Amino acid sequence: MKLWGGRFESGPGEVFERFSGSLDFDRRLIEWDIRGSQAFARALEQVGILTAEERAQIVDAFDAILLESRTPDFYEGATDEDVHTLVIRKLGERAGKVADKIHTGRSRNEQVSLDMRLWLREECTDLQAQLFAVMGRLLDLAEQYPHAIIPGYTHMRRAQAVLWPHYLLAYFEMFLRDWQRFGDARRRANVLPLGSGALAGSGFPLDRESIAKDLGFEGVTHNSMDVSGDRDFALDFLYACTVTMIHLSRLAEDFILYSSEEFGWLELGDGVTSGSSLMPQKKNPDSLELIRGKSGRVVGCLTSLLVTMKGLPMTYNRDMQEDKVPLFDAAEQLSGSLLMTSAVIESTRLNPARPAAAAEDSWVVATDLAEALARAGTPFHQAHQIVGRFVLESVRAGKKPADWTAEDMQNFAPEFTPDFVALLNPAEGMKSREIPGGTGPKAVATALAHARQLLGKLIV
Ligand code: ARG
Repeated sequence: MKLWGGRFESGPGEVFERFSGSLDFDRRLIEWDIRGSQAFARALEQVGILTAEERAQIVDAFDAILLESRTPDFYEGATDEDVHTLVIRKLGERAGKVADKIHTGRSRNEQVSLDMRLWLREECTDLQAQLFAVMGRLLDLAEQYPHAIIPGYTHMRRAQAVLWPHYLLAYFEMFLRDWQRFGDARRRANVLPLGSGALAGSGFPLDRESIAKDLGFEGVTHNSMDVSGDRDFALDFLYACTVTMIHLSRLAEDFILYSSEEFGWLELGDGVTSGSSLMPQKKNPDSLELIRGKSGRVVGCLTSLLVTMKGLPMTYNRDMQEDKVPLFDAAEQLSGSLLMTSAVIESTRLNPARPAAAAEDSWVVATDLAEALARAGTPFHQAHQIVGRFVLESVRAGKKPADWTAEDMQNFAPEFTPDFVALLNPAEGMKSREIPGGTGPKAVATALAHARQLLGKLIV
């Protein structure tokens, strides 16, 4: 069945039909297409196109089609151009002639926008729930080792000591912003496009506000041409997916490194790692590598739609049908990656002695020393210079911080009064970082408690 045969003397060629069909992938929208069409039938009744009886007949038939669509052979032999065409054909098969009225003053251009918005709304909520779970697992892992110290890195070189929970809370912040981004994407998609027609607005006086209410939208769109040519809402969603994937990928990269023999900080659970077919000793972090790999794929999804939209003349163009595959793929990959991340974090154990030793063996305390000198009155540039020379001397002499005595320190530089020796312990200097947002032990305990509280208040 076609929704547009009249103007043509012959039907579409087989090659074109196969090339242009989207049923294989847009069938994922069937539930939303049906729910949208039921609301549209109610709107058509309000404007007198359908009688109450016809509307009831259509709505009931759609209920039955929705149930049937969940059976395995529903799509068997279907050659319809897209899901919208299939749904109307099925309606005709069930309800008969009355089905011919369902598309009155409606275009697939607005219908596809409607279906995608309905799908995306739900998807945002689901992904938020999965993000919520990841954030919870992060806090669990932070709370298990509240006092553990790790070296923080810049340029992948040991920089300053931080608390383990402080490090994990950095990811909590990223995921919180992602959570908010999905809220924003949902809010922006949550307006009714129906009533826009193909591009010029429906020729029937539909009560758009009441359709919006019927479908749970916050409001209605304001320009029919905009609706017809707009995929911003899909891009917003894809951007939210992409940034979240990038955050997951960076966490994955950290955990791959930190669980390597070279670091030895983390032990990943057996359930999230795999072995080698040849090397019997291997325990590989494939789950995390796949998350990192899939992040590239999702960046591709966003890029794909951006490039599709760039340069399209107003309004609808069939190019836009290419929006769905990347959209669905991004959501699916992200959802799988979030679930996987939760499982990995849950399985992870920290061996606090290893990062503590890494901190103690290095010069992560250098900044603490320089800042303590500055607090005692040495101008910072001079303090920086003194500590720089102190580190150089240590490196030359093969000394670790703990190898220095108070006396030796003072002999090296008179500014190093006896109290400075305590600062050679990374846990000590941290106490000067009680600034909100810093890694001071009290600041971190407060931040951790605050994050827990905040998570409890997130509404999914
Ligand atoms: N399958 C189409 C899509 O996804 C639906 C809209 C078709 N509109 C049209 N004018 N051909 O974009």
